[in-house]
Order: sequence, then C-alpha cells, then structure tokens
Amino acid sequence: MATLEQLDKSRMPKHVAIIMDGNGRWAKAQGKDRSEGHKAGIGALHNVLEAAGKAGIKYLTVYTFSTENWNRPKEEVDALMNLIAWGIDKEKEELIRKGVRLQILGDIDRMPEFARTKTMQCMEEAKDGKVITLVVAFNYGSRNELAGTMQRIARKIQAGELSADEITEQTISDNLQTAGMPDPELLIRTGGEQRVSNYLLWQIAYSELYFCDTFWPDFGASELYDAILDYQGRERRFGKTSAQVQEEEKQK
Ligand code: IPE
Ligand code: IPE
Ligand code: MG
Repeated sequence: MATLEQLDKSRMPKHVAIIMDGNGRWAKAQGKDRSEGHKAGIGALHNVLEAAGKAGIKYLTVYTFSTENWNRPKEEVDALMNLIAWGIDKEKEELIRKGVRLQILGDIDRMPEFARTKTMQCMEEAKDGKVITLVVAFNYGSRNELAGTMQRIARKIQAGELSADEITEQTISDNLQTAGMPDPELLIRTGGEQRVSNYLLWQIAYSELYFCDTFWPDFGASELYDAILDYQGRERRFGKTSAQVQEEEKQK
C-alpha cells in the first residue's frame, strides 16, 4: 500500500495509461448486475484521477470502451452509454474546478446523441485545464487508429505534401490520434488479464507494463502509487546495457 510520499518526484511518469478491467467480475462477486460494476468504476476513476493529479502525472489515458465492446449484449452497451452521460453530469463541475482537461481518443460519432453532446460540451468547457489531461478512449481500437493514420498519411502523399521516403516514425506518431502527447511510460491493467486488448499498440512500444489482480472498482490512490513505485524500481534500458544506464544516471 504505497503512499505519495514514498514516490520519487523526479522520476514520475508523465503519462500513465490504464486498461480499467474487472468491473463485471467485481459486480458478479457481489451478486450485482454488471452495470453496477461499471457505475462503481466511475467512482474509481474519480479517485485515480485525483491521485494522479497529486502525483504530478500530466496525462492519464483510460480505456472506457473498445471497438470490440460493441459485441457485448445490447443491455450492457446501453447501460454503459447511460453511465457515460451520468458520469459526465456528476463529475463535470469538479473536473473543471480542479484543472482537468478532457480529450477523447476513438470515434465518438457512434456514441448516442445524448451522451455525445454532453461529452463534447464537457471537452469544450474543460479545454483550458492545466493540472492534468484526462484522455478518454471510447470506441477506441488501436488497429483502427493505425488504419486511420495510414489513410491520413496516404492522403498527404496523394496531395503531394509528402513523399513515401519521407515517412519516419515521427510521421506516424504525428498522425495518430495521440499526436502531441508523450508516449505512456507506464501501462496498467487491472482485473488480472495479461493482454493489451487492442490498446495504444504503437504508443506502448517501450512502456513498462504493470498487471494487477485488483478489479477496477477496487483500484484507488494506493493501488496507483503501488504501480508507480513498481515502475520506479525498474531499470529502463532502451536497448543499452545496465552499466551504460547506470553511468548515465551518475552523469545527471
Ligand atoms: C471493464 O470491465 C469495462 C469495460 C470493458 C467497459 P469489464 O466489463 O470488462 O469487466 P470484466 O472483465 O467482465 O470483469
Ligand atoms: C478492454 O477490456 C477494454 C476496456 C477496458 C474498455 P475487455 O474486458 O473488453 O477486454 P478483453 O475482452 O478481456 O480482451
Ligand atoms: Mg473485461
């Protein structure tokens, strides 16, 4: 159970991405409907966002609904859309007051009108937040994002703005929906599964992965700080040797 004081402020990740998983199993374990788990998940997000802001994290990117989640039973999808609208109503004022900027990844055109309007409005009203950016991945799939990125680049080539030889890794990063954001240093998945489920495939190329069994509704500030403490204990070598990394640390 880590606390904020235990963390090294000089080695804080700028960007933490989370696969908030386990809502359904959390609810089932208590004999409740799955939607109760999703509702409790909004409370967890509230707490984790606050804890992330206090830790000085600049971007928190959360997976709320994948392109594959449309395959769930209609009642669950409907309940999730209603909860998004409910969550925005409940949280909007505090988000703005606390300096949270809201951004969306994914195609929200498939969001029902009532939820989309609230989301867009909240994004507009929270656009000047300076404390932390909450990036909500909704109807998001990384392969879908990459296909869109390739289309954008191909159009630039067609228009003569770019040649094929000029495409670099940076060109791809700059044409993703996450353009301008740093890549996540840390990816957390709650709920026990050890997979990335089509999340940020390009962006997590060198992220540290952290999996925990805690179901998302039970994940809070101390669980977030546990994950960051674990991350801070790792040696990020980026292909170099440990001796090289340690030498570089000494030079700092
Ligand atoms: C994550 O929890 C939330 C969404 C995918 C919307 P789940 O709903 O996947 O919960 P489990 O994994 O079935 O327990
Ligand atoms: C990933 O969770 C998507 C979200 C957390 C929104 P899932 O529960 O949908 O992923 P799988 O099906 O276990 O891979
Ligand atoms: Mg799941």
